[in-house]
Amino acid sequence: MTSRPTVSRRGEQVPASPIRALAPLAAQAEARGTRILHVNIGQPDLPAPPEILEAIRPPADGVIPYAPSQGQPDTVEAWCDYYATVDVSYEPRDVVVTTGGGEAIGFSLVAVADPGDEVIIFDPTYASYLGFAASCNVKLVPVPLPPPDYHLPPAEEIENRITPRTKAIVVINPGNPTGSVLRQEELAAVMEIAQRHSLFVISDETYRELTFDGRQHVSALHFPGMEESVIMVDSVSKRFSATGLRVGCVASKNTEVSSATLRLAQARLSSPTIEQDAVVALLRNPTAYTTWLRNAYQSRRDVTYDALRTVPDAKVARPEGAFYVMVTLPVADANHFGRWLLTDFERDGETVMIAPGPGFYVTPHMGMSEVRLAYVLEESRLQRAVELLGQALAAYPQRLEGVA
Ligand SMILES: Cc1ncc(COP(=O)(O)O)c(C=O)c1O
Repeated sequence: MTSRPTVSRRGEQVPASPIRALAPLAAQAEARGTRILHVNIGQPDLPAPPEILEAIRPPADGVIPYAPSQGQPDTVEAWCDYYATVDVSYEPRDVVVTTGGGEAIGFSLVAVADPGDEVIIFDPTYASYLGFAASCNVKLVPVPLPPPDYHLPPAEEIENRITPRTKAIVVINPGNPTGSVLRQEELAAVMEIAQRHSLFVISDETYRELTFDGRQHVSALHFPGMEESVIMVDSVSKRFSATGLRVGCVASKNTEVSSATLRLAQARLSSPTIEQDAVVALLRNPTAYTTWLRNAYQSRRDVTYDALRTVPDAKVARPEGAFYVMVTLPVADANHFGRWLLTDFERDGETVMIAPGPGFYVTPHMGMSEVRLAYVLEESRLQRAVELLGQALAAYPQRLEGVA
């Protein structure tokens, strides 16, 4: 008798997305007639800006061709124009258009690290890094970020994790899931360590414009002398409220990185053509929209944070950027609490869906009392979502008393 073929260890080890893990339970709750306030996923409720909607057009001759692997020439140039608006200088030869920031993460990890190599990452982190690292056998080495504000630890704590196999440091700024914005000196410390140890810096600046209370975003590209070490991971998903368009990029001034990225891009032929064309106008002239967006999310941040501060035993710091907030709750198992919200709780026909903290951590068993909320709903809905969270905690049978 023949045995069944088996999947690879990598295939087995790629973790499920913590953001989507509870989706089947949400579908069951909805089937029972419960309305769900979704603050679990960074899916803005905002329509895409008119510049994008008007630019999504069928081609005149009906032919939808492959785009060049590097990207549509206009889109590549438009990315460079966009970078000029945020004081970052890239030329067309530095940019490869990707199918979302997700693909940019995968390309950059493969471009810098071989199987068994190590990449330092701040923990908690955006969960896709865990998935892509597992898929290419790259070891993520976590540096813990302490709650509630999740800022970087002293430089020694980063530096003492470097080994002969370390190839890069990943910086997500502004942070997902943390909502923190790196100060100039924090990023300077990372850049200095990278320079001294000849490491790449994979700088994920997907939320670049979403910095609140007048904070200036500092880009890894603002450090002279480090241009060839920085690999920019980027996406229009959040800054243009267009997650489903799937347009991102990898940009690098290091010709070997650009060449490797382009060859990876050739392996998948191209990114979607019509979608790339649709972002050109806004990339060339982004500021009015991104300024409006920053103000809108700052206001949503205020509403969410003020509401969270009234939840007994919740520990939270005021988020500085992106559109996420990590909250420490009086629960011992955030995964269980997240499931329970969908299976056993409702008030007036409604419940709230959160992203449990552990899925954002590289380090096992971390984040057991943390949840991430994405403030991507209208303000009154955000208020209601936090109100439901407070009511749920009061009713949760496994609530821990007097701790958070
Ligand atoms: C930090 C970070 N990087 C990259 C991405 C990927 O974005 P995209 O939707 O373009 O794949 C996300 C999406 O949530 C993100 O939060």
